[in-house]
Amino acid sequence: MITKQKGTYDIYGVEAKKRAYVNDVLNRLCEKYNYGYIETPVFEASELFHRGVGESTDMVKKETYDFKDRGDRDITLRPEGTAGVVRWFIENKLYGSMSEAVKVYYNMKMYRYERPQSGRNREFTQWGFECFGSDDVIADAEVISLAYNAYRLIGLDDVTIELNTLGDQESRDNYRKALVEYFTPVIGELCEDCQDRLERNPLRILDCKVDADNPILKNAPKTIDYLNKESLDRFNKLKELLDLMDIKYEVNTNLVRGLDYYNHTVFEVVLNGSYALGGGGRYNGLVETLGGPSIPAVGFAMGYDRTILAMEENNVNIPINDSVDVTLLYVSDTEKETAAYLAQELRLNSFITEVDLLGKSLKAQFKSVDRWNSKYLIVLNDEDLAKNEVVLKDNVTKDENRIKMNEIVEYLDTHM
Ligand code: HAM
Repeated sequence: MITKQKGTYDIYGVEAKKRAYVNDVLNRLCEKYNYGYIETPVFEASELFHRGVGESTDMVKKETYDFKDRGDRDITLRPEGTAGVVRWFIENKLYGSMSEAVKVYYNMKMYRYERPQSGRNREFTQWGFECFGSDDVIADAEVISLAYNAYRLIGLDDVTIELNTLGDQESRDNYRKALVEYFTPVIGELCEDCQDRLERNPLRILDCKVDADNPILKNAPKTIDYLNKESLDRFNKLKELLDLMDIKYEVNTNLVRGLDYYNHTVFEVVLNGSYALGGGGRYNGLVETLGGPSIPAVGFAMGYDRTILAMEENNVNIPINDSVDVTLLYVSDTEKETAAYLAQELRLNSFITEVDLLGKSLKAQFKSVDRWNSKYLIVLNDEDLAKNEVVLKDNVTKDENRIKMNEIVEYLDTHM
């Protein structure tokens, strides 16, 4: 037997229905913010992610699916959505005619070679969005509000936005220096990964999961103390806007995010102090890093699978339809033909309709009616059909009504 790959999963049944519901809510929300839908390819030139996300990040060092294709090109399966969207933005020269901010959202599979565990897979979905062209904090606030409202609309009201700022390049450089000075004498007391991070990405030490409770981390210098005036003013303005918009957040000065492209605003969405359900921030340098002009941008991505899991763990009611409107039952060949024809008509009129496909006995078809949780049933019968009639039975009240074939749709429309 061939089994699925480690860290991948099949989506079907109730799980698929839950996702369809969440998709629907999120898509409608994105429309309210006037974001357009985008999908980018699953695979891209490796350089896009290596350069974009950063060679020194854990993601590029350990997690990307890199391979050579048959044309000897270096290819990577997308580990995240931002770099591909930026590639699209540059390739289509959208910066040339930017009379408005360019705003797009996506719902795409991502691939990271991680150790699979609950909420962490090798193939997973991100629902995310990116906004290009504005360096004003009103764009950061819009992106944070879209993320915040998304979780609230799907019923995760208790999420917290953890917010921090990395400041501009000057502030970041000063902060990095301060961290290296602080950690160098005590690095031996931290985990092996942190020792490795000291040189290549000291900011990452701050969100180490292994040493999370170590006082060395807790007492480390804070980004906020190394911001220049402009960066600090900006952070204060963003907080003012979020307060005005009634968006609840907590400043977490240890939040740094794992990808290299961020500056200024970074944020994550968490629930009950568990792993991040989503994360994002501003990335003003990325368009330029990937070969475009200097264009500011900000965005966010929800970990879709983790979010669905959190909905289940928090008993959020996900309204999914698990019933059929009408089941058509038959025995003879002419009744079967009518069943096929009538099913077509009912489905085209938006009724969820079931009909036996397995040649079951009438008794077994009645059992299916209950399994499908059917609201109505029609037992087709040659005698009735000769008179152009059917008997429609309400499966809850058990009431029966004899009606003309051409009145079925109208009857169901008024009774359902
Ligand atoms: P990220 O923090 O790497 O950011 O991923 C965003 C979210 O994807 C995470 O918070 C998490 O919920 C989910 N996620 C990450 N890895 C896995 C995994 N192995 N299994 C399941 N879920 C996972 C980004 O990817 C940025 N591109 C976000 C962004 C958009 N920044 C600006 N725009």
